[in-house]
Amino acid sequence: MEKTIEWVREKNVSRMVEQTLLPYEYKKVDIDTCSSMYNAIKTMIVRGAPAIGIAGAHGVNLKAVELKRQRVDIATFKGELTDACDYLISSRPTAVNLMWTVEQQRKIVKNGTSVDEIVEKLIDNSIKLEDEDIKINKKIGYYGAEIVPRGATILTHCNAGALATVGWGTALGVVRSAFEKDKTIKVFADETRPRGQGARITTFELVRDGIPTTLITDGMCSYFMSKRMIDVVITGADRIAANGDSANKIGTCTLAIAAKYYKVPFYIAAPKSTIDMSIKTGAEIPIELRNEEEVTIVNGKRICAEGVNVINPGFDVTPNELITGIITEEGILAPDKLSTIF
Ligand code: MRU
Repeated sequence: MEKTIEWVREKNVSRMVEQTLLPYEYKKVDIDTCSSMYNAIKTMIVRGAPAIGIAGAHGVNLKAVELKRQRVDIATFKGELTDACDYLISSRPTAVNLMWTVEQQRKIVKNGTSVDEIVEKLIDNSIKLEDEDIKINKKIGYYGAEIVPRGATILTHCNAGALATVGWGTALGVVRSAFEKDKTIKVFADETRPRGQGARITTFELVRDGIPTTLITDGMCSYFMSKRMIDVVITGADRIAANGDSANKIGTCTLAIAAKYYKVPFYIAAPKSTIDMSIKTGAEIPIELRNEEEVTIVNGKRICAEGVNVINPGFDVTPNELITGIITEEGILAPDKLSTIF
């Protein structure tokens, strides 16, 4: 399976799909320094919780390779890599996957005894994480396909597909696995303002796979639910608290509220690494605030009055009572039963 982000050993670079160009151009770029990785995450060249987790691990590799070239001593090497870990984690605050992978790399740095050994171990670990991500997504797809009724129309939000992961996807992994079994399923994709991940990326992925897809704007969800045109909602997540409250792209909670009203099952599909057992509830999840221009400017043109106030949170938190189940690689869990897999 194609990896949408991967470490290239021969060149010591991170190769990834340049997601801001989609759907016009499907192009891969090589990221070759730690600071350009920070920018790639921040500007969303790479995005989606599991994908930025891998990008963070690669960012540590890049710094390690750079320091090895400079022939610094082991104390400087460890000190600078520790700073690089903090720097990379600060690029986006909501998705816990970024912290999860960078903390693994930090531990390798801490426990290592020589520069060469640490560089090798960091690279090996990041490649292991890439391979595991695809395997995990396949399992999520396998379990998730069970809850998709025959001929169902699935509503999804944002992009939790191959491009948000290393391959296959979480919510779209469920869609793909369900479609392998039943060619009559269909997808409704929310546009996902302001960055348009649903319109630009999810429709790109699904149309390319031949899965029938209808694009709707974010405000249309309850209309289609009221018409009984949506059978199940499945989204990804960026961080899930111990009680099952789930942060995902802004607008997800609106879907969950409408789904509850119209009695449409609402599922989150996410790997175990997205569950943050260190926080009790969603109130503790840091929500990224992004710049105003994402809201006020479309295709280079201002779309609103000068002087208007704008707030642009990137994520919202869906309370656990609105979630029917959380689809993980270890099975489908009720939101209040997450502790059973830890
Ligand atoms: O801001 P983004 O595009 O990184 O947000 C992505 C999402 O909200 C996804 O649904 C989430 O990361 C899960 S991806 C498998």
